[in-house]
Amino acid sequence: MAHDEVVKRYSGLARAALTGKVIVDCEADDFDQGCFGTAGYGDTSGVPEGALRASLGCGDPVAVAELRSGETVLDLGSGGGIDVLLSARRVGPCGKVYGLDASPDMLELARANAAQAGATNVEFLHGTIEAVPLPGHSVDAVISNCVINLSDDKPAVLAEAFRVLRPGGRFGVSDVVTDGPVDPVRRAAAEQRVGCVAGSLTIDEYRDLLRAAGFVGISIRRTADHGDGVHSAIVQARKPSIGPGLEIRPMREVDAAQVLAIYQAGLDTGQASFETVAPSWEGFTAGRLPHLRYVAVDTETNEVVGWAAASLVSTRPAYAGVIEHSVYVHPGCQAHGIGRALLTAFIAAGEDAGIWTIQTGIFPENTASLTLHQALGFRVLGTRERVGCHHGVWRDVLLMERRSTVVGT
Ligand SMILES: C[S@@+](CC[C@H](N)C(=O)[O-])C[C@H]1O[C@@H](n2cnc3c(N)ncnc32)[C@H](O)[C@@H]1O
Repeated sequence: MAHDEVVKRYSGLARAALTGKVIVDCEADDFDQGCFGTAGYGDTSGVPEGALRASLGCGDPVAVAELRSGETVLDLGSGGGIDVLLSARRVGPCGKVYGLDASPDMLELARANAAQAGATNVEFLHGTIEAVPLPGHSVDAVISNCVINLSDDKPAVLAEAFRVLRPGGRFGVSDVVTDGPVDPVRRAAAEQRVGCVAGSLTIDEYRDLLRAAGFVGISIRRTADHGDGVHSAIVQARKPSIGPGLEIRPMREVDAAQVLAIYQAGLDTGQASFETVAPSWEGFTAGRLPHLRYVAVDTETNEVVGWAAASLVSTRPAYAGVIEHSVYVHPGCQAHGIGRALLTAFIAAGEDAGIWTIQTGIFPENTASLTLHQALGFRVLGTRERVGCHHGVWRDVLLMERRSTVVGT
């Protein structure tokens, strides 16, 4: 179903709920017969009648979100607000829960329910789950109940969830999934019976999309069985953590796919290099020194979140200790000290290996990289003006260099 049709459909249901009707999302009457609602919950005490009547979920994401006092939560497609209100009780007065919905009528219903519940730590936002109106790294948990299946751009939804989560943040949603491909006739029959099936993913597709977005620790657990290979499921994943859970270690062959994916993600920003396509693993390893390749890894999951590597600038003996390096951090994990940790470790390893000068070229627009390198002892030697053409634009490159004070003195 196209986005506008989805919004129209749920706006109609919201208006019915505002008049006091119990609303359902399919042709059955309640969850036990197939259709979704409050029957998917263990405990709804304290939630106003209006929010219970409007519940259109397919499970209980709050039950698995492991919410703690003071945390910030985002509910994607918050509808009448049931999961926002349940979460608000868990995070307490020092926490905050955002409900996001594309339907103004649903928002009106949710705000009325929140007022009735006396909830002061909640805020309902108008917008889409494909373009979340919150800054990056601003929430501890993303929850959602039977909404992601409705989106016609699920990679964007998962990318947005990843973006807004803090490192180590949790993704815990209830959704509808299928065991495998479901033929259109059975899919349509299941849609009539339980709703929320038309755009549902297979479990494997869901896992692949979560992985591509950068999530780790992925688990998809079937809950209710709706027949025809259709299930409600609890989907959980985590954004890689840093700090105590971060390890810098030598790059291994098994890291190849993740290293190249991070490389490509960096190139896609347009600020990392003149290159536009990451090389093959053979191409990557060919020019780079084997003993100076490092990755930053999430120790719990072994997911690579960044890498650094280098090549010699010349084969002439006089330059034996002069290298040119690259450092790339997964775009979803930037601004959390990973680049600094990687580069610090890399410099130390280089000095251990007898490297006295590290060179690099940085686009002047890449201020984050410039600042990082300057903080770690690199200086700008000069600007190579309009030295290369990138996506049709002639661009300058700052030449930077770090001269060791302990090697080759
Ligand atoms: C099946 S209802 C679930 C509502 C709520 N999560 C619950 O459990 O009761 C889907 C909700 O998601 C909203 N929605 C659907 N697609 C959306 C999108 N792309 N962006 C934001 N909200 C969306 C609809 O307006 C509706 O309120």
